Amino acid sequence: MSTLVQVAGGAVCAGRPFDPYAGLAPDRAAARIRAARKALGRRLVILGHHYQRDEVIRHADFTGDSLKLARQGVAVEGVEHIVFCGVHFMAETADILSPDGVNVVLPDLAAGCSMADMADLGQVSTCWDELEGVLGAAPVVPITYINSSADLKAFVGRRDGVVCTSSNAPRALAWALARGERVLFFPDQHLGRNTALDMGIPADRIVVWDPELELGGNTPNALAAARVILWAGHCSVHMMFLPAHVDAFRSKHPEGKVIVHPECTREVVDKADGSGSTEHIIQVIRDSPKGTRWAVGTEFHLVDRLNREDPDHEVHFLSPTYCHCSTMNRIDPPHLLWALENLVEGNVVNRITVLGEDRHWAKVALDRMLDLG
Ligand code: 13P
Ligand code: SF4
Repeated sequence: MSTLVQVAGGAVCAGRPFDPYAGLAPDRAAARIRAARKALGRRLVILGHHYQRDEVIRHADFTGDSLKLARQGVAVEGVEHIVFCGVHFMAETADILSPDGVNVVLPDLAAGCSMADMADLGQVSTCWDELEGVLGAAPVVPITYINSSADLKAFVGRRDGVVCTSSNAPRALAWALARGERVLFFPDQHLGRNTALDMGIPADRIVVWDPELELGGNTPNALAAARVILWAGHCSVHMMFLPAHVDAFRSKHPEGKVIVHPECTREVVDKADGSGSTEHIIQVIRDSPKGTRWAVGTEFHLVDRLNREDPDHEVHFLSPTYCHCSTMNRIDPPHLLWALENLVEGNVVNRITVLGEDRHWAKVALDRMLDLG
């Protein structure tokens, strides 16, 4: 195993602290988090993804989308600990990119990403071998969305591929298509499809690879004709947004604007006025004329916060059903406090470390991404 999850100190069960943390009153938890941050001073940086709940993100030193937070991981200087309020692949990325000796801590080890879990190294290696069997030496360039495990990033690094986020997927795809006839894009088919179609790649040259089926469910001819091969993964949160939700908002508010995350289906992105990463969505709304009414198709906490904190815009959640990312939501004040108070005591709990060859090759693929600009 190249990815080591080290758990030391403190009473812990599957990454969840026992009492006295679990039943702590919100005000008391917040006060103790502030005290622990003060005690750790400049030795500590807390990073928070935009999907985190208010009670957590208010303690973050830096907030952002995946790309911004990855850059922040590189930039830490003189810091001993990064506490990552996000999900597992983000903490792994921070560990790979941060200087040696920095401890990266994920307050709850159960904070994973169900989309990242839809592709594993064994399945992707089988896919690669089958593609080589059908396509011979014709080069396929692999791109992995940053929402993937470190060993898949390493797989891509070893094969002259690149990592991308929702902010730089067009650049990554253009980079890859300049180097090979085809791209294998995993694990999110929707980000891959939206990016490829926006770049003018015809729909009949995009195929989906289902890891449960032989040749991913494709004929050799279809694979030979393809420019982009999409892994059949998705985000369950973003799949909840439907074209009918855009129609319903527009019929109620014909002057309103719709913006969605590119993990939504093509049908939803097509009907929206724009799409982009979480950071992009926030910027576009902030920069829009005062009084603009928006419907937003991404995780609930971000949308709800935008609505409450931006008095100049009216921000609606695109779906009538409340949907949040349950794994992002696992990071709560008790877990954050538990991690911080252990650091104050000198115990590094829930440390996320990527080691050896995987660390090296995953960094190669991530550095290529950062070099895209
Ligand atoms: P962003 O990089 O746009 O913040 O996306 C992260 C993510 O997991 C979206 O579901
Ligand atoms: Fe993963 Fe979807 Fe949650 Fe993002 S919103 S972390 S893609 S499960």
